[in-house]
Amino acid sequence: MSGDFLELCKRRQSVRRFTAEPVPDEALQQILEAARAAPSAGNLQAYEIVVVKDPQTRQKLAAASRGQGFVAQAPVVLVFLALPQASARVYGERGARLYSVQDATIACTCAMLAATSLGLATTWVGAFYDNEVMAAVGAGPHQVPVALLPVGHAGENPRRTSRRPLQNMIRVI
Ligand SMILES: Cc1cc2nc3c(=O)[nH]c(=O)nc-3n(C[C@H](O)[C@H](O)[C@H](O)COP(=O)(O)O)c2cc1C
Repeated sequence: MSGDFLELCKRRQSVRRFTAEPVPDEALQQILEAARAAPSAGNLQAYEIVVVKDPQTRQKLAAASRGQGFVAQAPVVLVFLALPQASARVYGERGARLYSVQDATIACTCAMLAATSLGLATTWVGAFYDNEVMAAVGAGPHQVPVALLPVGHAGENPRRTSRRPLQNMIRVI
């Protein structure tokens, strides 16, 4: 792993206040290309990304996220939807339950790190009411919301969060 990537992983942190400065289209395109480059089970890419710029829809997403106002403050919110049926066609129940969610999760991770590399701020948002997010973005019954990723320019410099010591996380056998 290059030192640059390690630094990028360590530099990323959740930002919950955004300025009004828009996300340039080229940056958004690069973030979406990074998501697209993510691995997926059987290369089925069993996920979709809804790019939400519309202010009213962002408000709905903030409400759906139990009133987390910063979701609406970000100029762009990426909504990652798993497509369980697409994965189930090849992998059955395991594809539906696990792989499609993992596909969406990895794509979101790649997008998040790409945003960091471009000097943009994000927070992974997982606390939301599925049905409200689905209604806000017009998702169908076979599209399962996995994560929201507000993207924008940082309007705060939050304190770093801590991590468990590595030796408490790993087990070498
Ligand atoms: C699956 C998942 C769900 C999360 N949901 C929320 C959320 O709903 N709201 C929020 O403010 N942060 C959320 N976070 C961000 C975490 O709180 C944050 O990553 C953690 O506290 C570590 O801080 P850091 O991101 O600054 O390193 C979530 C993160 C993950 C991975």
